[in-house]
Amino acid sequence: MTNVKSSSQAVLIEDTIIPSIGRRFPVKSNARLPKIPVAQYFQMQNRRYLGNKYKLLDFIEEIVSKKCGQVESFCDIFAGTGVVGERFNKFGIKVISNDILFSNYACLSAFLGTNLDIQIASKIEYLNSLEANKDNYFSDHFGDRYFTKQNARKIGVIREEIENIADSEAERNLLICSLLYAVDKVANTVGHYDAYRKTLDMVKPVELQVPRIDWSANEENEIYKEDANKLVKKISCDVLYIDPPYNSRQYSDAYHLLENLAEWKKPEVVGVGKKMDRSHIKSEYCLRNATLAFEDLIKNANCKHILMSYNNTGESKDGRSNARISDEEILQILKAKGKVEIFEKNYQAFTTGKSNGDGHTERVFYCNVNK
Ligand SMILES: C[S@@+](CC[C@H](N)C(=O)[O-])C[C@H]1O[C@@H](n2cnc3c(N)ncnc32)[C@H](O)[C@@H]1O
Repeated sequence: MTNVKSSSQAVLIEDTIIPSIGRRFPVKSNARLPKIPVAQYFQMQNRRYLGNKYKLLDFIEEIVSKKCGQVESFCDIFAGTGVVGERFNKFGIKVISNDILFSNYACLSAFLGTNLDIQIASKIEYLNSLEANKDNYFSDHFGDRYFTKQNARKIGVIREEIENIADSEAERNLLICSLLYAVDKVANTVGHYDAYRKTLDMVKPVELQVPRIDWSANEENEIYKEDANKLVKKISCDVLYIDPPYNSRQYSDAYHLLENLAEWKKPEVVGVGKKMDRSHIKSEYCLRNATLAFEDLIKNANCKHILMSYNNTGESKDGRSNARISDEEILQILKAKGKVEIFEKNYQAFTTGKSNGDGHTERVFYCNVNK
C-alpha cells in the first residue's frame, strides 16, 4: 500500500493542536440530564467496542470545526457505539445515526432517538431483583463459557422479562440497551465475542444501570438499522461521517452474542463460539468487493462534506487485519466527489513516512463535496 503522504493535498495536524481545540460549537445550555448519582448510570462510551472513536472525538470535532462551517445535520452512517454522532448532537446539531446491527440500533435509539423523558429506573430495579434459579436459552448456550452460569441465567431471565414489561418500542430499546451495557461488564472476554477466555473469572453479578440521556437534544434525530449503501440514497445531510470496518473481521462475528440477546429470536447456535447464523448482517466492507461498496456509497452521498476514518493497520501474517480498501482507491473515489485532504493524528507518520512505528496511524480523509 502506498503511503498517503504521497498525496500533495495532505494536511498535517500535529498532536499538540488536538487538546487545544478552538471549538466553535457551543454546548447547548438547556441540557436536561437526569439527576441520578453517578454510580447508578452509564453513558454511551461506557462499553468496549472494536474501532470505537471515543478517544478521537476531539480530533474529529476539530476537523469538522475547521472545514465544515455552519453544520445543521451530521450523519454517522456506520455508528457502532454512536459516540461520534452524540458529540455533535451535544451542540444541538441534528444527528442521523445508523448501524447494521440491531444491538447497536437499540442503543443508538436509546441515547439519540429518545425524545421523551421516559423513566425506567423502577423497571431496572425490578429487573435487577429477578430470581434466576433455572436454566434458559441464554444460560444453556452461553453459561460457563462467556459468563458464569448464574449470570447467564439471570441475563436470560431479564431479557425474557423485558418483552413483558416494556410499554413501548422506545422503552424496550432503553431496557435492551441497559442490559447490553451490563452484560459487557461481566463478560469473560477480551472485549468482543469471537471467543471467551479459558479462565472464567468474571464472577461479579450482572447489574443493570440507567442510561444517562439528554433527551432534549434528540427531537430531530433519525435512527436507522440499515445497510449504509441503501440508507445513503434516502437521506441528505451537511456532514457525512463514514467509519466502516477496515478489514475482513466482521462485526457480526465479534458481536454475535449481543446481537442474539438483543434480537431474542433464540436461534440455533453452533461451534465452540456458539454463534448464530449471521448471513443477514454480513458487511460488504469486510469482503473483497469493499472498494465497490465504498464507491457506490460515495456516488450516492447527498451531502456537503464527507469525513472518513480509515486506518492503515499494516500487513498482518494471516491477512485478516489488512485494510480492504487501498489509500489510492479511497483518494481516487473521494476526488471524483470533491477536493480531498487527509488529516493524521500523528505528525511523525507524515514527515518520516513511517506509520507511527507500530504501523497504526489515526487518519481522517476529508472531502469538500463539489460534484
Ligand atoms: C469501525 S465500526 C464504527 C465505530 C464507531 N464510529 C464508534 O465510534 O463506535 C464500524 C461499524 O459499521 C457497522 N457496519 C458494517 N457494515 C455496515 C453496513 N453495510 N451498513 C451499516 N453499518 C455497517 C458495524 O456493525 C460497526 O458497528
